Amino acid sequence: MTTQLITKLPAILDPTKIPQHVAAIMDGNGRWAKRQGLPRIAGHQQGANTVKSLLRCCKNWGIANFTVFAFSTENWSRPAVEVNFLMQLFEGLLNSQLEQMHSQGVRIRFLGDRSQVPIALQSMMDKSIDKTADNQAVTFNIAINYGSRNEIIQACRSIAQKVQSGKLDLQQIDESLFTQYLDTSGLPDPDLLIRTSGEQRLSNFLLWQLAYTELYITDTYWPDFSNDEFVRAIADYQQRDRRFGKI
Ligand code: IPE
Ligand code: IPE
Ligand code: MG
Repeated sequence: MTTQLITKLPAILDPTKIPQHVAAIMDGNGRWAKRQGLPRIAGHQQGANTVKSLLRCCKNWGIANFTVFAFSTENWSRPAVEVNFLMQLFEGLLNSQLEQMHSQGVRIRFLGDRSQVPIALQSMMDKSIDKTADNQAVTFNIAINYGSRNEIIQACRSIAQKVQSGKLDLQQIDESLFTQYLDTSGLPDPDLLIRTSGEQRLSNFLLWQLAYTELYITDTYWPDFSNDEFVRAIADYQQRDRRFGKI
C-alpha cells in the first residue's frame, strides 16, 4: 500500500507533509458555463467531473479526508429549476458512482441538514453511507443543505438539552466535547481549504472547523480546476509555516 502511494505521488510533493484533510468550496460553475455560452446547469455537470478526479487524487496520494461544499443553506434562494436540477444531479451521481467509489474504498459521509432535501436523495444518501461505512481508503464528505451557523446552533441545542435533562454538566462543555456535536464529528479539521473562482469568503462553510486551516484561493472556475492545479495547491500548502499562534 505504502509503495503504491509513493509511486503515484507527484514528484514535487513532499510525502511527509500530505494534508490529512482537504476541503473545497466548489465555486464558479455558473460563470464557467456562461463563458462557454452554455446554461448554468452545464457548469454543474462539468463540475462533477472535477470532484471525481480530485477524489481519485486524494485516494492515490494518501489524503485521508476530502470534503466538498455542494449546496449551502443559502442556495435555496436560487431559481427552483436550478435547485431541482442540483438535487437530481446529486441523486443521479450517487446512484451512478456508488459501486465504483465503494470498490475504491471510499467512505461516504454527509454534512448538513438532510431533512429538507428531497426524499429520493435522502434514501440515496442513506444507501451510500450504509454501503461504504467500513471503507478506509478515503473519507469523502459531501455538504448538502449545509450551513455552518445552522450546524453550530443545532450543536448548542443538543448540548443544552443534555444539560437540562441532567445528563451533562456545564463544566464538561469544552472544545473537544463541542466538536463531537458538529456534523464533522470524528474528522480532523481541514488542513487546506481550496476556494475556486476568486471569491475571498467562506460563505458559511465550516466556520468552527476552519479556525487554523490554510487557505488557497484561485481564480480558476471549479470545472477547470485540474489535477495539476490540485498538485500546485498542495505544494503551496506544503510551503506554509503553520505556527498555530506560536513563534
Ligand atoms: C458553485 O457554482 C456550485 C454551487 C453553489 C451549487 P455556482 O453555481 O455558485 O457558480 P457561480 O458562482 O454562479 O459562477
Ligand atoms: C458557496 O458558493 C456554496 C457552494 C459552493 C455550495 P456560492 O456561490 O453559493 O457562494 P456566494 O453566494 O458567492 O457567497
Ligand atoms: Mg457561486
